[in-house]
Amino acid sequence: DKDNMKISMAVIRRLPKYHRYLRDLLEKDIKRISSKELSNIMGLTASQIRQDLNNFGGFGQQGYGYNVEALYEEIEKILGLDKQYNTIIVGAGNLGQAIANYTNFEKAGFLPKCMFDINPKLIGLKIRDIQIMDADHMEEYIRRNDIAIGIICTPKEQAQSVADRLVKCNIQGIWNFAPVDLNVPDHIILENVHLSESLFTLSYLLNHRDEL
Ligand code: NAI
Repeated sequence: DKDNMKISMAVIRRLPKYHRYLRDLLEKDIKRISSKELSNIMGLTASQIRQDLNNFGGFGQQGYGYNVEALYEEIEKILGLDKQYNTIIVGAGNLGQAIANYTNFEKAGFLPKCMFDINPKLIGLKIRDIQIMDADHMEEYIRRNDIAIGIICTPKEQAQSVADRLVKCNIQGIWNFAPVDLNVPDHIILENVHLSESLFTLSYLLNHRDEL
């Protein structure tokens, strides 16, 4: 039950940001950082950072701050980024192909094993070395290849039926890019990326600058 989770969603949603900032620090060869400095660059308060990280058992040392590499590795583990996940992309159009071409997800451990589409012009093609297969073969492929995550990049009209099919083959998680709220059982982890909602929030803010 999502409401009874020990760690609040607000904290969980900040973890990728910690991960990103710590990686940048590592790339700059910065070995340690105080919660004050970290809070300055991240735009959070030092006490919020301490509170957030206390959810996972602390990590900071009084008077020393945080060991950047140790904290980074700990957050990688907490986020499950120390593992690999087999993924499929359903819908091999503009967005599906863009995701398939983006190698950083793969570097983070999300391996794109196959793409599926219904368009005969796309079936049989490859994006990098990722095959586009006939969507009719999706269920069989998922069962045989230990697929953990389905990435939905179909038009919104098809997204629910695609999600239903993924659920039936025991997919663990769905990353949904279609602009629609999907219904899935509680045991399926669903994460939506609604790009236009973000854009329209930008639009609101542009138009209400004076009130902010
Ligand atoms: P697209 O039309 O280029 O690609 C959609 C693909 O899904 C097509 O190749 C189509 O044959 C395939 N498809 C349709 N039904 C299917 C099914 N049942 N199983 C497997 N494949 C199926 O559309 P695009 O631009 O890639 O957008 C895909 C989704 O992502 C849409 O819901 C769109 O609203 C959303 N989106 C796209 C963005 C973009 O930058 N292109 C940005 C934000 C959201």
